[in-house]
Amino acid sequence: MSLQLTVVSLFLLGGVLTFPLGQESCHPTKPDMLNVHLVPHTHDDVGWLKTVDQYFYGDRNDIQHAGVQYILDSVVDQLLKNPDRRFIYVETAFFYRWWRQQSSSMQQTVKQLVNEGRLEFVNGGWCMSDEATTHYSAVIDQMTMGLRFLNETFGPCGRPRVAWHIDPFGHAREHASMFAQMGYDGFFFGRLDYQDRARRMMYREQELLWRASDSLTPPMADLFTGILPNGYNPPEGFCWDQSCDDAPIRDDPDLEDYNVDDVVKRFLAIAEGQSAVYKTNHIIMTMGSDFQYENANLWYKNLDKLIHYVNAQQANGIKVNVLYSTPSCYLQELHRTNLTWALKNDDFFPYADDAHDFWTGYFTSRPALKRYERISNSNLQMCNQLEVLGGPVSRRGPFGVGDSKTMKEAMAVAQHHDAVSGTEKQHVANDYARRLANGWQHCQVLVSNSLAGLSGSTAERIYCDNLNISVCPLTESSKKFSVNVYNPLARPVTWPVRLPVNGTAYVVSDANGKSVVPVSPATREVRRSRGFAVNELVFQVQAPPLGYTTYSVSLLQNGPPPASTQHHTPTAIKNKFLQVTFDPDTGLLSSLSNLETKQTIKLTQNFYWYNASDGNNVESIQPSGAYIFRPNSSTPFVISKTAKTESIQTPAVQEVRQWFSPWVSQVVRLYADSRALELEWTVGPVPIDDDLGKEVITRLDTSIQTAQYFYTDSNGREVLQRKTDFRPTWNLKQSEPIAGNYYPINSRAFIKDDDDQLTVVTDRSQGGGSINNGSLEIMLHRRLLYDDVRGVAEPLNETSGIFPKGLVVRGRLLLSLDRPASAADAHRPLAQEKEPGEIFLLHAIFSGLQAALPPAVHLLTLSQWDKDSVLLRLEHQFQSWESKVNSQPVTVNLQKLFTTLDVLGVSELNLSANQWKDEMKRFSWTPESGTAHLHLSVPSLQHIRT
Ligand SMILES: *[C@@H]1O[C@H](CO)[C@@H](O)[C@H](O)[C@H]1NC(C)=O
Ligand SMILES: *[C@@H]1O[C@H](CO)[C@@H](O)[C@H](O)[C@H]1NC(C)=O
Ligand SMILES: *[C@@H]1O[C@H](CO)[C@@H](O)[C@H](O)[C@H]1NC(C)=O
Ligand SMILES: *[C@@H]1O[C@H](CO)[C@@H](O)[C@H](O)[C@H]1NC(C)=O
Ligand SMILES: *[C@@H]1O[C@H](CO)[C@@H](O)[C@H](O)[C@H]1NC(C)=O
Ligand SMILES: [Zn+2]
Repeated sequence: MSLQLTVVSLFLLGGVLTFPLGQESCHPTKPDMLNVHLVPHTHDDVGWLKTVDQYFYGDRNDIQHAGVQYILDSVVDQLLKNPDRRFIYVETAFFYRWWRQQSSSMQQTVKQLVNEGRLEFVNGGWCMSDEATTHYSAVIDQMTMGLRFLNETFGPCGRPRVAWHIDPFGHAREHASMFAQMGYDGFFFGRLDYQDRARRMMYREQELLWRASDSLTPPMADLFTGILPNGYNPPEGFCWDQSCDDAPIRDDPDLEDYNVDDVVKRFLAIAEGQSAVYKTNHIIMTMGSDFQYENANLWYKNLDKLIHYVNAQQANGIKVNVLYSTPSCYLQELHRTNLTWALKNDDFFPYADDAHDFWTGYFTSRPALKRYERISNSNLQMCNQLEVLGGPVSRRGPFGVGDSKTMKEAMAVAQHHDAVSGTEKQHVANDYARRLANGWQHCQVLVSNSLAGLSGSTAERIYCDNLNISVCPLTESSKKFSVNVYNPLARPVTWPVRLPVNGTAYVVSDANGKSVVPVSPATREVRRSRGFAVNELVFQVQAPPLGYTTYSVSLLQNGPPPASTQHHTPTAIKNKFLQVTFDPDTGLLSSLSNLETKQTIKLTQNFYWYNASDGNNVESIQPSGAYIFRPNSSTPFVISKTAKTESIQTPAVQEVRQWFSPWVSQVVRLYADSRALELEWTVGPVPIDDDLGKEVITRLDTSIQTAQYFYTDSNGREVLQRKTDFRPTWNLKQSEPIAGNYYPINSRAFIKDDDDQLTVVTDRSQGGGSINNGSLEIMLHRRLLYDDVRGVAEPLNETSGIFPKGLVVRGRLLLSLDRPASAADAHRPLAQEKEPGEIFLLHAIFSGLQAALPPAVHLLTLSQWDKDSVLLRLEHQFQSWESKVNSQPVTVNLQKLFTTLDVLGVSELNLSANQWKDEMKRFSWTPESGTAHLHLSVPSLQHIRT
């Protein structure tokens, strides 16, 4: 089937259009004075203590008084009352909800405000994403969605120039790199380590130039970064929201309590203090906070007066000029100063707001939600791709009406800094999960329609979403079925599939090395009554790039019995690539060898828990909670020094099943064709009968000489070097030897020395660290009995209908051992590999690509943009230093890429697809002293419309 795409005229024809862009509407400043930029703003969480919809409507005000619809109503009204006033709006998830409910005359009015720069969008993504627990792919998607709405609604005047992450709890380098590539001129945030802030205040380095990639040629990933003076709150004593208690400006001299002189004096003192720790004669003050401006009159009436009375002092020789402003107006003034700025190459993790208050717990909080979010992203990418490959019939076809939009919105909301981060109330976490499930339902219809179109078969398809606990109603009860596997990657993938079955022997067409193994007791325990399969059928599937293959499976009546379990631990299991040995006395792993490179390391692995601080402590009363990790002691408790084991050896897979306690078990699994060792862990219900909160980790102790260094990825993309008890930009006084050494791991972490590199690929975002030489630990699950007083007001104590005694979570780590020089070539594909989707009852082989893309190129996005065009993102996925072969530049021929699409034209866009690449002009900034060392250019992300 060949689908013709016609490209509509995407370029401006004829004359150049000009718009009164926001920055021309900035209020004038005074070069010989201290200019104080007042930025009225509201911080509207896309779900936290209430769900996103409850926040929008102002529902459940008994939980928290907050109603975004009223904020926008009130602000627009107040902006119209005085053309000097300014407001910024950030979260498109809310603005979009509000906009759809406005009359066309109100929409006209708001357009006018935007055109005149009185209402300015900043950031502009669907939400303000979390930076520690998100994957870059989902962040780019949610930014694209919000920015697209703004462009289509407001045109160029609606394009945010500034990224604004005032609340996220630490800042990732990859986020800065993405913002730079999305065309932002600068970035502002509110939270950083308190020691880092103190030093930056002293040296006036709260405004800096962040060089956010060690692979892209500057200034491609350079981002001017400003740290706000008081988080995102107004200065003390100047909060005039209805939710605040500060004194209003009482300016009638005939009345009691006239306070103008006092207000002006206090304001000038604060402005002077602030200017002492910033570099220029411009300072910024954030006049607003969480869900403020519901009654905007209160704020604006007092701000009007503040500006009037402070500026009146200029007649008395006071050299301070106060103005209504926005982040982009402030940034423009900084840019005009033509100064040089301190350069930063690392990131802002971990974040501590006091000596014992490290925000490193949320790297792991709500591990099941984190996994669900990650797998939902794979599902969404498959849905997007099949919508393109299958054409219009995907949206309306034999299985009904399907769409990808529901899932896109659910995923966008889930990127919020209180969503996938795990720092929301339980009912809100449930709401995020419900949205994802609903999105997936809509996608399933689309996927079924698309596959029906591509294959010509309208047989029903069943989606097995619970294979992680060996549950799939179809395979468990059928004697004959077909398995269809979809590969969303642009290169062929080989993947082991394990299907729950009730028979003992099967024929699988064209599949290599199939085996039947009994379902483990741990799996029976975790699936509870949701399935009844007694065995798992294991075989290797191969799928072409961007395509599917089909395997038909039929029960063999008189086949051999399944493999039996052996109760003695084998001393070793191996395939052609790897060998792992076990200590016969303890049942624990004892070594790992790469048989191709002839490397061996000592490796023991076990499970431990940190006793969560209950807040009853000499040094600090801070307990561990949803945000904060604070172990009571630096020595974790071992769950068991030994593991009971049983093993199963079949041609397709070898397993050693380890049982540590009634609530911790693991399968050490080696598939016949795999270069990675799988550790499938199952943890929970975490016991709390002893009234102790527990933070459960697994630790790998190796013979690798790490000299305190280890490596973690940033949002699943570039890798950063970490060093225990060390920060690259300031002299750390370490006060939490464990929590202060934790970093986010989104897809992989590694330790290495000159000879060996051990890479761990995770299946979700987790926190981890390398506390001792040669060791790497990863936090898997947390169950806590106290709230950590950061607002959520609930202990992180997850249960569910299926797990009333406490949540059970299962996941996997993939381990590989390589020579450091070639490790990236081996582990990058592992980290990229998404579980292929499984669909049933189909025939044929289909690939959406004419040929596989080279290993260095990742097809990040293939998504229907509008009727006639698709959005394609190709990514060069190797850092400049990572690989001799794969770090080289690559050329891709787009003409010959797809099998079902003819490429009629290509236009290049910025990373967020809201600006043509050739129109992208960013402010340029000069770093302070010389430039950081440069690498040769590597082609970066390309954004192409066909
Ligand atoms: C900015 O400073 C550089 C030297 O650092 C100078 O060459 C340049 O002319 C200045 N630009 C402006 C607009 O003042
Ligand atoms: C599955 O197999 C078990 C054990 O052989 C048997 O008791 C059960 O009835 C089977 N269930 C189904 C639905 O086939
Ligand atoms: C944690 O959850 C369990 C099970 O629902 C409950 O019995 C216990 O009271 C909870 N503890 C706290 C501190 O919330
Ligand atoms: C199995 O995976 C689903 C996501 O598909 C997740 O929600 C669930 O928590 C997982 N089960 C366990 C026991 O981890
Ligand atoms: C922005 O929106 C306008 C109006 O819908 C559209 O014509 C233009 O192509 C969009 N720009 C980009 C870069 O998509
Ligand atoms: Zn927030």
